[in-house]
Amino acid sequence: MSESTGLLKSHIVKKYWMAFTGLFLCLFLTGHLAGNLQLFITGYAGQLQFNQYAVFMTTNPAVKLLSYVTYISILFHAIDGIVISMANRKARPQGYAYSKPEKNSMWSSRNMGVLGTIILVYIVVHMQNFWYEYKFGTTPYMMNEDGTAPLLKDGTAIPNGEIVDGMIMQAGENLGPAMGDLYTIVMEGFANPILVVFYVLAMAAMGFHLIHGFQSAFQSIGLRNKKYSPVITKAGYAFAILVPLLFAIIPVYLFIMAA
Ligand code: HEM
Repeated sequence: MSESTGLLKSHIVKKYWMAFTGLFLCLFLTGHLAGNLQLFITGYAGQLQFNQYAVFMTTNPAVKLLSYVTYISILFHAIDGIVISMANRKARPQGYAYSKPEKNSMWSSRNMGVLGTIILVYIVVHMQNFWYEYKFGTTPYMMNEDGTAPLLKDGTAIPNGEIVDGMIMQAGENLGPAMGDLYTIVMEGFANPILVVFYVLAMAAMGFHLIHGFQSAFQSIGLRNKKYSPVITKAGYAFAILVPLLFAIIPVYLFIMAA
């Protein structure tokens, strides 16, 4: 096998991985958005529902497994994306001196590396904001509606319960872990206008990344033939606009409601 054939093969393998991990991350985004839409439910009912959802997401074994697949997909997608972007740059060191790229390709398709990097920075900040805070930070605990009793993870209120190191104690007996109040962490986060603007800008980058990425993934796995191409193009635009838009509306809405 010549060196150039080997490079081409490894490039094709990388494109496959980019496509599979990218499409899996689109599925993750859809599920994550559906879960986050619960933040539109107002009052105590919304708070309880979101915190019960957070317990389910962090304790259900199947969801836990999917979480690990998500982390690995993000890493693979980002590393492969950086390698492919750098290889593309190397392949045209003199830039586009003799051709006008804007006529042949979209702005987003030429800037996938930059857009992906913005999204990666966003994910790191985002994980710190909520995921890290919930798992390792000083999370508040969920109380019953009149604030007199802490809740166990299954939602049972424990009158006279005392929380010690995350456990609910009653008359000296350890009844189990208390339910964390992730809802309040999210509300407090989005009371900060800088964080809200950061989320909105990141979702704009996500939209442009998806406009090219969604369609390109189907192309890479060979499904973008004559028959399916129009459907994939339409679905790609719909996904790339709708999903980031809904994600962006959540922090804006919560900020306005908290004001
Ligand atoms: C308004 C928008 C968003 C809100 C309110 C939000 C909220 C949250 C919360 C509360 C968590 C921690 C609880 C959990 O682990 O389920 C979380 C985790 C996470 N979020 Fe978001 N999210 C938003 C958008 C996004 C976007 C656009 C991405 C991807 C680019 C993303 C990626 C993740 C990841 C990878 C995790 C860790 C999931 C896991 O551990 O399984 N989020 N998000």
